[in-house]
Amino acid sequence: MAPHPAPFPATRLRRLRRTPQLRALVREATLTPSDLIWPLFIREGQDTREPIASMPGVDRLSLDIVVESAREAAALGIPAICLFPYIDPSLKTETCEEAWSRENLSNRATRAIKEAVPDIAVMTDVALDPYNSNGHDGIVRDGVIVNDESVEALVKMALAQADAGADILGPSDMMDGRIGAMRMALEAEGHKDVTIMSYAAKYASGFYGPFRDAVGASGALKGDKKTYQMDPANADEAMRLIARDLSEGADMVMVKPGMPYLDICRRAKDMFAVPTYAYQVSGEYAMLNAAFQNGWLDRETVMMESLTAFKRAGCDGILTYFAPEAARLLNG
Ligand code: PBG
Repeated sequence: MAPHPAPFPATRLRRLRRTPQLRALVREATLTPSDLIWPLFIREGQDTREPIASMPGVDRLSLDIVVESAREAAALGIPAICLFPYIDPSLKTETCEEAWSRENLSNRATRAIKEAVPDIAVMTDVALDPYNSNGHDGIVRDGVIVNDESVEALVKMALAQADAGADILGPSDMMDGRIGAMRMALEAEGHKDVTIMSYAAKYASGFYGPFRDAVGASGALKGDKKTYQMDPANADEAMRLIARDLSEGADMVMVKPGMPYLDICRRAKDMFAVPTYAYQVSGEYAMLNAAFQNGWLDRETVMMESLTAFKRAGCDGILTYFAPEAARLLNG
């Protein structure tokens, strides 16, 4: 015989959803401007904003404007910005020496920002792709991305960025052993306090397309990045990479892309309990904006929902092109 039904639902979960006040009281994840890192694309020139077709609302900025963006970020309560240079094609080589030039675009930007806006953290990208005539993150020899030689180049690049005043180095190259090599070099060269946010679980993703347009690497890229970036089908491997990078001296770890990889964020946070970030990448931004522009999704609702989901998944922060817009909304 079927059990006798209760005369009322034993648990009325809707009670706690009835008013905005009750919902606020029981809310588990909170998004604040201090969770956000704002990626910025930089270029040569003066007073120039150059639109990026596949990233509506995102421009390549000349250094004077980047300094203003840094000021804006600080005023909004965003703790960090992250710099990605658009390098003139004439400076791209197979050996990538521009990557560790003290005077390259990225290092000049870091110095200008640290001088003008001391209360913002500057994060820089450690990978060779903007400087590489064949668009890869490492050095290519006979069609192979050679690991150890790439690590040597990346260490020189990291030291130049640290000398320029970067607060956070973001190795996004996925070579083996680069975190340990960078950490040793930083200690040896007097940069004991420079932090490393390792792009530890970085997937070989189709979602980076618009970014490669933005830094001018898409035309140059020969082949794909599958021999160094991760297979989107793998999750255990992400845990091995995070464990490895932490043991080599990473202070913070990142999962990238973001929205399709929230399971990886949650596992990473549960397993390692270290500062964990996600990168809501260019393709995620492009995809959402395409729907916003068509009126198919509501901009504010979906933007904030997407960012809150990262917090719920265990992330301590999010690199997102929506950073200033979201911060403005959060600040009311
Ligand atoms: C390159 C790098 C990429 C991104 C950040 N650093 C692209 C790539 O790996 O090809 C992607 C960021 C984005 O798509 O927003 N080292």
